[in-house]
Amino acid sequence: MQLKVSDSIDRRVEAGEITGDQAAAFNGFVDTCNRELMTHPVITDNAYCKWFASGAADREDVKHFIVQFSVFSNLFLVAQLLKVINAGSLEGMRASKEILANEIGVIFNKRNLDGVDVQDTDREGDPEIVSTEGSVDGGTFRFRAAHFEWLLRMGEVLGLGFNDMGKRRHGTPATVFFCDELATIYGSDDFNIAEGASFAVENWAAAGFWKQLVAGLEAFRQGEGIDLPLAFFTWHDRIEDQHAGHVMDELEELYFTEEFDEEKFLDGGRRMLDGVQAFWTGLNEHRIARAHQTN
Ligand SMILES: [Fe+2]
Repeated sequence: MQLKVSDSIDRRVEAGEITGDQAAAFNGFVDTCNRELMTHPVITDNAYCKWFASGAADREDVKHFIVQFSVFSNLFLVAQLLKVINAGSLEGMRASKEILANEIGVIFNKRNLDGVDVQDTDREGDPEIVSTEGSVDGGTFRFRAAHFEWLLRMGEVLGLGFNDMGKRRHGTPATVFFCDELATIYGSDDFNIAEGASFAVENWAAAGFWKQLVAGLEAFRQGEGIDLPLAFFTWHDRIEDQHAGHVMDELEELYFTEEFDEEKFLDGGRRMLDGVQAFWTGLNEHRIARAHQTN
C-alpha cells in the first residue's frame, strides 16, 4: 500500500496558496512516509490476519480472538478520550468526539443504510443497519449501538458472558501493551506525536485487515453452522473503506500548519505501528502455541 499525493497540491500551487518548493517538500515527505511507515510489516504482512482469513481458526481460537479484540475495543475508549482532551484545535476535538461518541452508542445522524425503515426502532442500533456516515451531532444514543455491545452479542453465541470480555484483566500482556501504547502515543498531549499515531492507525485500519477477519469469521460461522452475528466486523470494514480516502487530505492539511514537525510525526507513527504489531504478534503466538499443544 503506497500513499499518493492528490491533485489538490497542484491546484494549491496554481492558486498561489503554496509555493512550488512547498509542494515539492510535501511530496518528499509523502515519500518518506511511504518508506518509513507504509513498509511496516503490520501493514504489509500481518501473519495472523492472513492465517485467520483462511478459515483455519477453531472455536477456541475465535473465542480468544474475540476476547482480545473486546479488550482493545473497550480500552480504546481511554485513548480516544485522551485524544479529545489533548486536541490541538476545536475542530480536532470535535473530530475526536465523533469517534468517541459513536463508539459508545451515538448513531451517526444519517441513520440507516438505504432501504431500511428508519422508523424500525426495534432495530435501531443494530450494526447491520446503522449508518457509517454522518455526524453524531443530532444523532440518537442507543445503549445497544455501542460497539462493545455488538461484540458482547458475538461473545454470547460463543458462551462468553459480560465478565469474560473487555476488561484489562482479560488481555494478554501483548494486548495490554498495545492498549497502553494507544493511550500514550495516540492519546499523547504532543500534537505531532498524536497525529503521527493517528495517521499510522488509519493506514493500518485501511490496509484490509477487516476484510480478512470477516472472511475468517464467515468461514468459521459456516463450518460451525451457528448464527454468529458478524456486523461488528462488517460495519468497521465499511467505515474504513471511506476513511482511506481522507488520510491524504488530512496529512496535507497538517503538513502546512506552523506547528508541524516531521520527525515527531514519524516517531509517533513508527512507535504506534510497533504497538499494533505487538497485538497481532501476541495473537499469532497464541494460535501457534495452541496448534502445538493439540498436535
Ligand atoms: Fe468501533
